[in-house]
Amino acid sequence: MVNEVAKLTLPGKETLELPIIKGTLGPDVIDIGMLSKAEMFTFDPGFRSTASCESKITFIDGNKGLLLHRGYPIEQLAEHSDFLEVCYLLLFGELPNTVQKVEFEKKVKNHTLIHEQLIRFYSGFRRDAHPMAIMCGVVGALSAFYHDSLDIHNEEHREMASFRLIAKMPTLAAMSYKYSVGQPFVSPLNRMSYAENFLHMMFSVPSEEMIPNPILVKAMDRIFILHADHEQNASTSTVRLAGSSGANPFACIAAGIAALWGPAHGGANEAVLAMLQEIGDVSNIPKFIEKAKDKNDPFRLMGFGHRVYKNFDPRATVMRKSCYEVLDELGLHDDPLFAIALKLEEIALKDPYFIEKKLYPNVDFYSGIILRAIGIPTNMFTVIFAMARTVGWIAHWNEMISSPDLSINRPRQLYTGSTMRDFTPMDKRK
Ligand code: CMC
Repeated sequence: MVNEVAKLTLPGKETLELPIIKGTLGPDVIDIGMLSKAEMFTFDPGFRSTASCESKITFIDGNKGLLLHRGYPIEQLAEHSDFLEVCYLLLFGELPNTVQKVEFEKKVKNHTLIHEQLIRFYSGFRRDAHPMAIMCGVVGALSAFYHDSLDIHNEEHREMASFRLIAKMPTLAAMSYKYSVGQPFVSPLNRMSYAENFLHMMFSVPSEEMIPNPILVKAMDRIFILHADHEQNASTSTVRLAGSSGANPFACIAAGIAALWGPAHGGANEAVLAMLQEIGDVSNIPKFIEKAKDKNDPFRLMGFGHRVYKNFDPRATVMRKSCYEVLDELGLHDDPLFAIALKLEEIALKDPYFIEKKLYPNVDFYSGIILRAIGIPTNMFTVIFAMARTVGWIAHWNEMISSPDLSINRPRQLYTGSTMRDFTPMDKRK
C-alpha cells in the first residue's frame, strides 16, 4: 500500500519522489526502483537496510524478539503443532484441518524412498566426507532423477518437487551419516512421525531396531519446527537468487544448502560444539570470554548474537526449555561438555559486554547441545538444520516463482577498480 513518498535530492538532478510502501507489520520500505533511471544505485553491503522482496510467509521483529509464521507465533507452533503441520502452514498459508493434514502427510510420506541409482552415488564419496558436502551433491543430483517435476511454471510440478524434497531430505541425511560410519542404509518407515523416522534411520541397524525415546522425538521435532523458516536469511536469499534465473527446485535447494554451511549461518551449531571442546574446562571460560571481547582477536562466542534479534531469539527460549528436558531425561547435567555450556550461558548473560551489545544465546547454542545429547555426531548438525529449512526455502522459492513480477535478481555494485587503460605488452609489464 502506497500513501506517502520520500523525497530524495540528488546533486545536480531533480528531486525524486520515491513511494513509501507499507507492509502489514514491520518497517515501511522506500521503493527505490526509479533510482537506476537517474543513474544512481543504493549501497548497502550485507543488506542491513535492504528489503530484497515482498513476502507473506514469515515476520521477524528483532527488537521485540518476535517470530511469526503466517501470523502464528513460533512459541505456539512449537508447543501445539508438529513439523509436518508447520510445513503445510508455510507452504499453503493456513493450518490444515484434520482431512488436509492426513492427506498432506500421506502425500509427503509417499516420497521418502530414494531412487536405487542415487543410492549408488554415495559410494563415490570418501567415507570421511563432511555430510554437508554429500548433501550439496545428492540434493542437486535429484534433478537428474525427477524430470516430471522440473517445469517451474507448472504448479503441479512445483508441488511434486516440494513434497519430494521434504520427504527425501531425512532419508538422504541419515544415509550420509550411515555411510560415514560404515553401516547399511536404513529404509524409512512411513508409519512413524517425521522426527521419529529420522531418528530411526539414524540409529537403527538391521540387527536391532531402535525405538526412539518420545522425549527425544519431541525435542527433534521442535528443532525441525524452530529451524523451518527465518525470512530472508543468507540461504533463503540464495535459493531465491538461484531460482530467479529459472533454475530447477532441486538445484536451488542445493544452492541453499551450500549457503547454509558457513559458520556464521547454519554451521554455528557445529561451531558451538567445537568451541565447547576448545574451552575444555569450566575454569577456562573467563579466558575465552576475554578473547571474545578482544577486538584484535577474531574469536567470537559461537551460538551468541544474531543479525536480526537484538533482544532475544524467541527460538532460543523454546530450545532452552527442550535442552533442559533432554538433559534431565538422559541424566546428562554433569557431563563435562554440557557443564561448560551451562556455565558459559550463565557467565555471558551477566557480562556487561554481552549485555550492552545485546548478544544473547541464539537457537544454535541450545540445538547443538540437544543434538549432541541425542547422540547425533557434530558434523550432522548443519545437515539437520538443512533438512528443517528445506520447507522454508521451498515456500520462498514457490512464492517468488508464483509472483506475477518474477524477474532475474541482479544486484549492481559500487566499482572501485582501475579505470579504463590500454593493454600492456609483456615486455612493458613490471
Ligand atoms: N561474540 C563476541 N562478540 C560478538 C559476537 C559474538 N558471538 N557477535 C557479535 N559480536 C560483536 C561484534 O564484534 C560487534 O562488536 P563491535 O560493535 O564492537 O564491532 C557487535 O557485537 C555487533 O556484531 P556484528 O558483527 O555487527 O553483528 P552481525 O549482525 O553482523 O553478526 C552474527 C551476527 C550472528 C554473524 C554474529 O553475532 C556471530 O558471528 N555470532 C556467532 C555465530 C553464530 O552463532 N551464528 C548463528 C546465528 S543463528 C542461526 C541463523 O539464524 O543462521
